[in-house]
Amino acid sequence: MPGTVIVGTQWGDEGKGKFTDLLSKEMSVVARYQGGHNAGHTLVVGEETFKLQLTPSGVLYDHIVPVIGNGVVVDPFVLLKEKEMLESRGISTRRLVVSGNAHLILPYHQQLDALHERHLGKSKLGTTKRGIGPAYADKSMRLGIRVQDLLDEDIFREKLHAALGHTNKILTKVFNRLAVDPDELADRVLSECLDGVGPHIGDSIDVIHTALEAGQHVLFEGAQATFLDLDHGTYPFVTSSNPIAGGACAGAGVGPKDLNRIIGIAKAYVTRVGSGPFPTELFDAVGDHLVDVGREFGTNTGRRRRTGWFDAVMLRHAARVNGLTEVALTKLDILDQLAEVKICVAYDIDGSRVEHMPYHQSELHRATPIYETMPGWQTDLSHVTEPDQLPDAAKAYLDRLQTEIGVPITLASTGPARSQFFHWS
Ligand code: IMP
Repeated sequence: MPGTVIVGTQWGDEGKGKFTDLLSKEMSVVARYQGGHNAGHTLVVGEETFKLQLTPSGVLYDHIVPVIGNGVVVDPFVLLKEKEMLESRGISTRRLVVSGNAHLILPYHQQLDALHERHLGKSKLGTTKRGIGPAYADKSMRLGIRVQDLLDEDIFREKLHAALGHTNKILTKVFNRLAVDPDELADRVLSECLDGVGPHIGDSIDVIHTALEAGQHVLFEGAQATFLDLDHGTYPFVTSSNPIAGGACAGAGVGPKDLNRIIGIAKAYVTRVGSGPFPTELFDAVGDHLVDVGREFGTNTGRRRRTGWFDAVMLRHAARVNGLTEVALTKLDILDQLAEVKICVAYDIDGSRVEHMPYHQSELHRATPIYETMPGWQTDLSHVTEPDQLPDAAKAYLDRLQTEIGVPITLASTGPARSQFFHWS
């Protein structure tokens, strides 16, 4: 059962790309299973840094088949741009397989995303405005257009007419905007995208299962994270898909028994972009320090991320809903200069100590963190490659995190380069 899932355990941007890179040697297939180009994966391979939004990171390795699974929403214009960027940097995209069952994001989805956000005013979600929510909404309404529809012009036009029959009413009557002409859009998509996207459209299920049946390793690469999950996140401040490990089953077409290693990626502190509750959020100099040293600006949108202390209550919940078999910790080095470090071990909610994620979200909005404070190590960890090289205070911090989470921390990273990590337990 050589299926491995990499899943974010917080609010995204945990640095999943780093561990995808470390695992890539043993993988034959790397499949994305949800989200779209709202993701931003930064990968440092050798001397080069790549920022990918949609294409699975496996594309950077000759021996890997990168797969965009059925659960992903695909903007064909973005896919082509990314393909051109990769080719221009000498990376072949020939092996890329895009599931014919994945749904398309088209320009009207992005327009709707921006209009919904504006309409929400102060209650806006802070989406990436990439059209993710409207594309998944169309999928659920059975008005979506699938990647495979590009291969049949008549079907593509027919579906576009049906979808826009609905969407144009919303654009014109609710938002007072111009209607989109279905045939003009069809002409544009087919003329600009079909040649570039067409050859990649395929049967992702067969690719993944053929590899699994041959005993090869398949990596399911999650985008966003547990607390942005449509069902398990801090709704409505979530994305419109299921980033949790179980999402790999629906979004890539595998059964739970195909997944045997579930690696939760956690930052040594917490960040969030967009709106929504964040119990350990910092509004002080330490928060600014984490932004500056951790370069906490969105890969994709450039937005400044909100920062806070590590929240073990979140992680215990993430361990449950994902079935984590291990945790990989990122950005430990960003805490290097701090005189003390804090771990949120429980919440105070209305005077009671709560150790598990409250079921009612209104309680989470009232939660204040109960911290355990530990001495900082005030040592540069960027060269640490063996746990023995760690100062005692850093070892104590890792031990404490592991005990609080209840899942082994197997790896920790201390910088963006491939060599900057060590094995822990
Ligand atoms: P959407 O996915 O663009 O609809 O945005 C919904 C929420 O998810 C917003 O709070 C976004 O900031 C957040 N979000 C979406 N993608 C990412 C990501 O890759 N990293 C961090 N936050 C994300």
